[in-house]
Amino acid sequence: MLTFSVMGLKGGVGKTSVTLGLAGAATLRGLATLVVDLDPQGNATSILAAKKPKATVADVIDDPSVEMLERALTICDWEIEPGEVDVLPSTPELVVHDAYVPGAFRPRLAKAFKYLQGYDLVLFDCPPSHGTLVREALAVSDAAIVVTTPSFFGAQGVDRAVETIKDMKRNHNPKLDFAGVVINRVRSTVEEHEYRQKEMARIHGRSAILSPSIPERVAMQQAESFGQPVQVVSTAGGREMREIFDKHLTRLLRNYGE
Ligand SMILES: Nc1ncnc2c1ncn2[C@@H]1O[C@H](COP(=O)(O)OP(=O)(O)OP(=O)(O)O)[C@@H](O)[C@H]1O
Ligand SMILES: [Mg+2]
Repeated sequence: MLTFSVMGLKGGVGKTSVTLGLAGAATLRGLATLVVDLDPQGNATSILAAKKPKATVADVIDDPSVEMLERALTICDWEIEPGEVDVLPSTPELVVHDAYVPGAFRPRLAKAFKYLQGYDLVLFDCPPSHGTLVREALAVSDAAIVVTTPSFFGAQGVDRAVETIKDMKRNHNPKLDFAGVVINRVRSTVEEHEYRQKEMARIHGRSAILSPSIPERVAMQQAESFGQPVQVVSTAGGREMREIFDKHLTRLLRNYGE
């Protein structure tokens, strides 16, 4: 089982879209995938959960037992074969678990995740904050993928994310790796976007920028409004996204697979 945190401090950069894009790519390959929605906004839950959840990830943090974990795992009715996606759903109440006191953090989800089985891939959709929830994800992940947009504030968010990953690796999860940065919503005609992409490559190293970057395409918003993976959007943009997420998944499986 491979586990990735999809994170980024800045809001609206595409963390949920990238998580769902990777989940769609994994499902097309026949992988059993679990999306853990750690964002109190519950965007991934509203797209994925096929029925009203009996329990949520907040309940699992409160009571990290195998019984609670099983109660919270919720099926998804994406019509995309041959794989399968489940979701560990969110709730607005999850926000009370995000408060972070340096030095006092003790991972709780990790206790429940010891019992998790039957999945090839686990993807954490993280909230736009660097509190306890992101740290819960990083404490059990093989690697962290940082999502950003090609903007000044986006670049600042990447620096902060990398600091949080280093801190978690040092203090809680020695195996945790920084997988790299996915630059999303790129418009090739915008000079500022070109400049910011080069700047991020200079600061973090070329290999830290995961290629290909993701262009701005309406297919991403269409997928969201259909409640379906972008892979089923039958436009040129949908097909382009399908290829892009497949490339990203291929690299992740190659770099972190057994
Ligand atoms: N490449 C793209 N092209 C066009 N629209 C996109 C793209 N990526 C994301 N979007 C749209 O941008 C909006 C924000 O994306 P998303 O919800 O994935 O961001 P987020 O980082 O998860 O946000 P939050 O910080 O609130 O959790 C969504 O409406 C989504 O459809
Ligand atoms: Mg989100």
